[in-house]
Amino acid sequence: MPGRTATVEYGSDGVAVISLQNPPVNALHPAVLSGLFDRLREAHSRSDVKAIVVTGAKGKFSAGFDINEFGKQAGGGGIDSTINDNFCELLESGPKPTVAAIEGVALGGGLETALACNARLCSPGTKLGLPELQLGILPGFGGTQRLPRLVGLQTACQMMLTSAPVSDAKALKLGLVDGVVPRERLLAEARQLAAEIAAGTKPRQFTLYRTDKLEALGEALAVVDFARAETQKRAPHLMHPLLCLDAIRAGIEHGGRAGLRAEAEAFAKAASLDAHKALVHIFFAQRATKKVRGVTDAGLKPRRIKRIAVLGGGLMGSGIATASVLAGVDVLLKEINDKFLQAGMKRVEANIMSRVKKGKMKEAAAKAALGRLIGTLTYDDFGSVDMVIEAALEDVGLKQKIFADLEAACRPDAILSTNTSTIDISLVGAKTKAAERIVGAHFFSPAHIMPLLEIVRTPQTSKQVILNTLEYGSAIKKTPVVVGNCTGFAVNRVFFPYTQAACMLVDLGLDPYTVDKAIQFGFGMPMGPFRLSDLVGADIGLHVGHNVAGSYGERTYPSRIIQALVDAKRLGEKTGAGFYKFDARRKASPDPELAPFVERSRKEAGLFRGGKPPAFSPQDIVEFIFFPVVNEGCRVVAEGIVDKPADLDVATVLAMGFPPYRGGLIKWADLVGAKHVATRLAGWAEQFKSAGLDGFFRPTRGLLRDSMPGLTATVDYGSEGMALI
Ligand code: 3HC
Repeated sequence: MPGRTATVEYGSDGVAVISLQNPPVNALHPAVLSGLFDRLREAHSRSDVKAIVVTGAKGKFSAGFDINEFGKQAGGGGIDSTINDNFCELLESGPKPTVAAIEGVALGGGLETALACNARLCSPGTKLGLPELQLGILPGFGGTQRLPRLVGLQTACQMMLTSAPVSDAKALKLGLVDGVVPRERLLAEARQLAAEIAAGTKPRQFTLYRTDKLEALGEALAVVDFARAETQKRAPHLMHPLLCLDAIRAGIEHGGRAGLRAEAEAFAKAASLDAHKALVHIFFAQRATKKVRGVTDAGLKPRRIKRIAVLGGGLMGSGIATASVLAGVDVLLKEINDKFLQAGMKRVEANIMSRVKKGKMKEAAAKAALGRLIGTLTYDDFGSVDMVIEAALEDVGLKQKIFADLEAACRPDAILSTNTSTIDISLVGAKTKAAERIVGAHFFSPAHIMPLLEIVRTPQTSKQVILNTLEYGSAIKKTPVVVGNCTGFAVNRVFFPYTQAACMLVDLGLDPYTVDKAIQFGFGMPMGPFRLSDLVGADIGLHVGHNVAGSYGERTYPSRIIQALVDAKRLGEKTGAGFYKFDARRKASPDPELAPFVERSRKEAGLFRGGKPPAFSPQDIVEFIFFPVVNEGCRVVAEGIVDKPADLDVATVLAMGFPPYRGGLIKWADLVGAKHVATRLAGWAEQFKSAGLDGFFRPTRGLLRDSMPGLTATVDYGSEGMALI
């Protein structure tokens, strides 16, 4: 592809400026790397060149190795080791000194390129970091060796293990860069510094061989070992952070060059693991949710949403208002009386001030955000808003009345949206003539923190309205996913079998705490289904369950134990007991008083006749709970509720905490193998047929088809081939 290269300019000052070119972020595609390598060799060989500056075109240094290239080459994660080994060596120890002039971003391989230079300058606003672990790999251009030698081991381990970038100011403080220079002078100062190093008036630093920032050997090894133990505790399923630490340790023990060899081996190993494939998939899938077929390719221009109205200042409404004012959107917050209004305004204020307390925001910025919030008890100013988000009680009649009022009060082009999680969007707007501008804006609680926004369209919602809502979602820093209108939309719908399958396991004789452990520690969910029920509230779960049963009755399993807990007012955290008991600090522990509820549920279900409970390994528990979820996910894809399977992957990761290193629901099933999923589901359908529960497990047609050799799909979704219609 034209434009993927590195160019060079030779100045009369004897400095060659090599510029990385691959818009928009100058990713290090193999063509860019080989261009860089060639230009470097050329510059080093010319007698009129004294020094070299490396920079990036169009205000960005580089966002690292081109992620599209991973997996294209067998082994080594798509990285050509002959270039990799040599270009950093040539940058660091070639005949001429090198200086990196960094603007915008220096991430991953981008920062590693800069680290190999003999000095670094950056401009204000630059972000520098090694986020490779987020992609299931580790730094592969020498970062595991050079970063610790530049900023110290402890800081380097933290930067790599958290993947968090640092600011220009922090980079200067850490010694990661040698100076911060306004962007208009950056190149000139980098040239001058390069010339001075060439002239010997400034020292030439060879980072790989520095030891001045490294802790003494014993302390350094203790830092790595501590980081290893912590990582194993925090992320027991992940191997690549440990591989990263192994490479760092090798460099500490045996020196930088041996460390580079260890890094290359560790990188190749990490790149061969499923976690890497899954995380790269999520990286692109998350960016692709904003591309919706028939909407974002329809030649329309999104309209910026500058001012919205939020109806209802409860938990959801105040969270939505918080996210909006934080992103610079003006908000009218409407309530039905002054008491509720004041409570809602206070909630927004508390949400914002807690960011100040945590050091995430300056007080002045918080004040400015709060200045964008106006409380109201009337519709008087609703003519000024671009969009309304209704977050009132879940009552169809009430919502229909509100939407009729909104139609009268708002401009004819204002978007009318509802945050309902249970009511049909078409019903909400049934008393208006505004169907084309009615859309669901389904936030997850707490709305100012949870990153997903489901944008629910009906067949009548106009493309322009979907486009504008997508734009609003991105503006308030959510990941928007467009979904179709059905009970539960995408996320709540695919997760309804989650708790139900868990309840069935208990009715079959399994201990609920064993089930939770398998799902949390064995699989990697943030918590098991029963702990989640306690968090959400058994009453809410039961309400949602009834709702779902109404629509998908033939494949629901009645959660009797949850009904029993609701009857006894054991609703979870909010009442101090549910499946678990909670102390004053809301710490959960197993509760012996749960036993009679378990017994009652088992008796009613009649699936367990006492004696030894059936043998279920942790893996069996995971499959029994998640394969029905996958099955529902396939229905959601086949019905076109999501635009593409990857959207469901992103939604399940962001809203339910499905482990991103498993790739999201559908990608995980792909990695596990559709055939295995379908076979197990079919087995359980047969096993539970006599109990009338085969509908809960029966594999969907799409899933079966994909798992049968020789059958071709009618719709091809590429690697997410399981979701076939
Ligand atoms: N490779 C390929 N494409 C990349 C890329 C990369 N490293 N980084 C970003 N892009 C693409 C995105 O996919 C997106 O493409 P699209 O417009 O077609 O959807 C485009 O660049 C713009 O990216 P964003 O939408 O994310 O724009 P933002 O301005 O929000 O963010 C960013 C920019 C901070 C650079 C962010 O994209 C990012 O964090 N990128 C990934 C950085 C990273 O992980 N680097 C490590 C790569 S692995 C590596 O270097 C291995 C080495 O150690 C050997």
